[in-house]
Amino acid sequence: MCGIVGYIGEKQAIPIMLCGLEKLEYRGYDSAGIAVIENNKLKVFKTKGRINNLKELLNNNGYNSSMGIGHTRWATHGKPSDINAHPHSSNSNKFAVVHNGIIENYLDLKEELIKKGVKFISETDTEVIAQLLEYYDTGNFVDTVFSVVSKLQGAFSIGIICKDNPDELIAVKKDSPLIIGLGDGENYIASDIPAILSKTRKIYRLDDEEIAVIKKDKINIYNFNKEIVYKNVFTVDWDITSAEKMGYEHFMMKEIMEQPKAVRDTIYPRIKNNKIIFDQLSLSENDIKNLNRIYIVACGSAYHVGCVAKYTIEKIAKIPVEVDFASEFRYRKPLLNKNDLIIIISQSGETADSLAALRESKKNGVKVLSIVNVVGSTIANESDNIIYTWAGPEIAVATTKAYSAQLVVIYLLALYMADKLGTISNDIYTDYINELLKLPDKIESILKRKDELIDFCKIYFNSRDIFFIGRNVDYAVCLEGSLKLKEVSYAHSEAYAAGELKHGPISLIENDVPVIALATQDDLFYKMLSNIKEVKARGAAIFSIAVEGNTKIEQVSDYNFYIPTTCDIMLPSLSVIPLQFISYYVALYKNCDIDKPRNLAKSVTVE
Ligand code: AGP
Repeated sequence: MCGIVGYIGEKQAIPIMLCGLEKLEYRGYDSAGIAVIENNKLKVFKTKGRINNLKELLNNNGYNSSMGIGHTRWATHGKPSDINAHPHSSNSNKFAVVHNGIIENYLDLKEELIKKGVKFISETDTEVIAQLLEYYDTGNFVDTVFSVVSKLQGAFSIGIICKDNPDELIAVKKDSPLIIGLGDGENYIASDIPAILSKTRKIYRLDDEEIAVIKKDKINIYNFNKEIVYKNVFTVDWDITSAEKMGYEHFMMKEIMEQPKAVRDTIYPRIKNNKIIFDQLSLSENDIKNLNRIYIVACGSAYHVGCVAKYTIEKIAKIPVEVDFASEFRYRKPLLNKNDLIIIISQSGETADSLAALRESKKNGVKVLSIVNVVGSTIANESDNIIYTWAGPEIAVATTKAYSAQLVVIYLLALYMADKLGTISNDIYTDYINELLKLPDKIESILKRKDELIDFCKIYFNSRDIFFIGRNVDYAVCLEGSLKLKEVSYAHSEAYAAGELKHGPISLIENDVPVIALATQDDLFYKMLSNIKEVKARGAAIFSIAVEGNTKIEQVSDYNFYIPTTCDIMLPSLSVIPLQFISYYVALYKNCDIDKPRNLAKSVTVE
């Protein structure tokens, strides 16, 4: 994910910022840059690639400045390139900006500025901030920042410098982390503690909707209403390793906890005036109307998103969907038709089998739409259409936040298609959109209750086998829960469609075998109760997940976890969360290497 660092003091700013950026490398990035003010001139150095590339660029240029801002970029709007790298400067080189997050209304703002004659050179949402600062410049740096910030929607942490104010650095925070590091005659800004931990342990945490005006020996913090805000100094007592994980023991836990943000960032910019908008999707209404069949092709957890997608798209957009493992699809010679659509789902965008399936489909003249997390990855580059998940970089091998972001792209896409095809009424479409917007908060409410899952995990973590059962989308989520558990805890685990139990698998159930039952679907609730009773009668220990209010589940379960209500198609986004925690805690009690399970790689680039 993008990283921000900034410095103002008396020392050379560039080496300090480079050192800070290096400390953020673990988070993943595709380009890096720095802006400083030297002799009342703004100088920007930025490049695609590693920080070493930036160092080479800087070595060829002398510098002498004691303030500046730096950034590592993880591409979202626009591919990784020198031009799209941060900092972005305004046309006359007066302001430079680094930014984390997403400016949701950037297209509207950009259009407005273009009409007024402002030229843009990058594809980023961030450049809009720099150009707005120049266009609405009042001559007073602080006032100008306040007026521009009031126009921005979305999530953003921003560092800004202005060539006419070399003694001031401005930091802005809304829904994206930003801290101020406090030094002696010098101060820092950073998106994450590791960036400044070797310089200072004393920090101010900016809260949402705050703006800090930072000088080397003075800091004024305001809320967006221009009222002064007083902060307590926070002393960091973490070491660098736990600071990288923001105090969490593992990246997997950190990423589970980041899901409300990942989901919000993926949904919110795509909903305008209660309608779903996909920028740059060249799938016309006619293309959608002519669709014969959709094939969803992916591996592992991304394949499991495809399994949810089959139920969702068929249910609301009424388009037939087939789901294939990429490794099978490429060799099974599917009977493709030119009116089919292939959807490839991939976090990394580099998975060898998914890429081969993409190439095979294109060879057959079939259009490919990819749902990808890594901008500029090979799958993204070779697809006819891309919808990015904006989950940010995922470091733990076991995917959590990317899976959740992929799920919400599926809801968006299914609703988008249903709307174009007229398969759902306007009222139902609006109800779905409203529910979609509430999902991040509902996920958040489950995260707060993670401790409720600990007892079950403490008792059963050493079980040889753990089963998952469910029907319909619950079954699709069971597949993911079971994979997650195997992956991180090495417990043997299987997921079964609950109705299939009596056709064989029930013979595996004996006394005290844990069975995790998902019973979230209203129309199948009583069928699930019967299936749970079947395994309970054979001695299974039942852990059920049901929607709040469905208390009848307690009659058949030993442990229960309730998820909030939402519309039928979006329940997987909530029911998967307790399953992620169960995998995590089981692995924790078994002392497994949670972030890097044995034999696994984050990105499988070989067949
Ligand atoms: C999930 O936790 C796994 N690490 C794995 O199944 C993964 O989803 C699969 O390898 C696909 O990767 P991709 O999304 O990068 O294509």
